[in-house]
Amino acid sequence: MASKYTALKDHETPIKVLFTGYLCTVGMGYLFALIQILFTHGMADGKFGLSVDDIVYSYYGNRSGTVLEQKLNGSMKENAPEQERFKIMEWVRDGADIDDYKDDGIEKIIETRCVMCHNKEASGIPSFSTFEGLGPYIAQDTGATFASLTRISHIHLFGISFIFMFVGLIFSFAETTTTQYKCIAIGMPYAFLMADIMSWWLTKIDPFFAWLVILAGMGMGISFMFMWVTSILEMWLFEPIFIRGFGSRYIEWRDSPEASIAD
Ligand code: HEC
Repeated sequence: MASKYTALKDHETPIKVLFTGYLCTVGMGYLFALIQILFTHGMADGKFGLSVDDIVYSYYGNRSGTVLEQKLNGSMKENAPEQERFKIMEWVRDGADIDDYKDDGIEKIIETRCVMCHNKEASGIPSFSTFEGLGPYIAQDTGATFASLTRISHIHLFGISFIFMFVGLIFSFAETTTTQYKCIAIGMPYAFLMADIMSWWLTKIDPFFAWLVILAGMGMGISFMFMWVTSILEMWLFEPIFIRGFGSRYIEWRDSPEASIAD
């Protein structure tokens, strides 16, 4: 096919050096970003390595971890019947709303079952005679705050779109990938970037969406790697890879009639 652009391998060496310098630097940046994810989100569930739990704890929070719930299942278990303990825990899980405290009859349970010990006169244990006394024991870990999500959302959208602008621009001079696949590789990171940011907000609302965070992150990584490797190989190793090496078989397949991809 007649090329309307200068292929990567035919660029002047200074331009290749510029492209390569940029690619290596953002590649290193990507590596450090992954390490950072491993150390922040990766440790969210207390275990090393990234899991769906980590994502849920980071964005949605660990909502089963209040002291009140632990105590009601532990040393305070004998102080209220099963049904009432369950009612209290349900209320805590639903957000420990102050209005529901009265309406759902939680206040009554606490008054009859707990305040006999947990009152102002008691020393060493918290008083539950007022709602405020419960405060520290019903505080939930609700994950990332809306303020922090807003901040990292716009930083990521602006910053990462720039990275993919230049990686995509360099890769657009590649000649071994068909136009169709080039469009996919160049467009995919943007679709995944938006899906990634949206999935944070969705996970904040519902832990179900944690898998979308992982999927979008992986999609972005795969397209980045594909563009990165193709660009570097075409610039510096075109001869050994695409003419004499394993890449030649790919070129053969690409140009064969069986590969029914319109170019
Ligand atoms: C017979 C007295 C008694 C009753 C009734 C009682 N508690 Fe306690 N509670 C204690 C004592 C003593 C402690 C401290 C020892 C411990 O943590 O087990 C305590 C500790 C706690 C703590 C932990 C406080 C902290 O500083 O970590 C919570 C939460 C709690 N109780 C909740 C409740 C609830 C809810 C009820 C009602 C269902 C209740 N308790 C009923 C005596 C009582």
